[in-house]
Amino acid sequence: MTRVFSGVKPTGHLTLGNYLGALRRWAEVDQHQADALFCVVDLHALTVDHDPARVRRLSRQAATLLLASGLDPKRRTVFVQSHVDEHARLSYLLECVATDGEMRRMIQYKEKAAREQGRGGSVRLSLLTYPALMAADILAYDTDEVPVGEDQTQHVELARDLAVRFNHRYGHTFVVPRATAPKVAARVMNLQDPMSKMGKSDDSGPGIVYLLDEPEVVRKKVMRAVTDSGQGVVYDREERPGVANLLEILAACEGGDPEALSGAYASYGALKKDTAEAVVEVLRPVQERHRELCADPGYVDGVLRAGAEKAREMARPTVDAAYRAIGLLPA
Ligand code: TYM
Repeated sequence: MTRVFSGVKPTGHLTLGNYLGALRRWAEVDQHQADALFCVVDLHALTVDHDPARVRRLSRQAATLLLASGLDPKRRTVFVQSHVDEHARLSYLLECVATDGEMRRMIQYKEKAAREQGRGGSVRLSLLTYPALMAADILAYDTDEVPVGEDQTQHVELARDLAVRFNHRYGHTFVVPRATAPKVAARVMNLQDPMSKMGKSDDSGPGIVYLLDEPEVVRKKVMRAVTDSGQGVVYDREERPGVANLLEILAACEGGDPEALSGAYASYGALKKDTAEAVVEVLRPVQERHRELCADPGYVDGVLRAGAEKAREMARPTVDAAYRAIGLLPA
């Protein structure tokens, strides 16, 4: 059985990017071939300026949306990172294996640190060590595959490097994981700024489709997407990023290939209209299930409690083995 692990950070309302790049694929993991864990990584949300009540609210909302996306909690382990101490325990050991230089080279660290400094704020130390905690999330569960969007592949590469280095220095302890990205929509772009990723922590509302946006709001956002003044509908990520983004979203929602789909359209208006409807249809069942789940918050809490218990049992042997291997005296 392949072991799959992935996570989502409760720093904002989940977006279409999160859904197409990650959540939807998590629900599609074949239950006969893989054993899977999905985590709301709340400790990661503390790495930037945060409001405690909002993180709590967004954590429950993210967990509810994971279930609404179709994850069956009877077959999948769905839990919250801070409920399982093994993540923080292992993160420290991995900080002792990682170097300052490799942490500073992470693109997301550079971008987020620059953003914090630009706002006149200071950079939390945990933002720098973030990838060690993320590696701990992955390595604690003997993970083979990590389904993520393109923006997370560098972090998963680092988790690989740390696993290999630890095993080499202290004896075989960790499975070496690999990232898997979707064929299309691995990087859904902001509809108003197609050179930037559609990110849930960004402020630019009109360029971001949220999973819980009403159909009318989705339509408006897609119809107002920035394109270009070029002729014809052509799939070219470099030269025509806005149109390429719409074609990718449409292909991801309907199935098919963005390049092939481009041939079916003579105008941007028709492409936008079909893309808007395809997004509305993809989100509809998720929103319906979300509404049902919200009516029964005790159910979601119960799933998270049971998930944490199961996750703890799974992580403890590997984390204990890492403690012994690195030279710590058994308790
Ligand atoms: P996060 O919370 O930013 O995003 C969750 C997942 O959604 C994907 N994603 C996207 N995919 C396509 N297009 C987009 N515009 C887009 N935006 C986000 C992300 O790639 C991710 O798969 N560091 C991680 C959370 C994390 C994690 C882990 C993931 C912590 N520990 C262990 C995997 C394994 C993050 O911030 O994802």
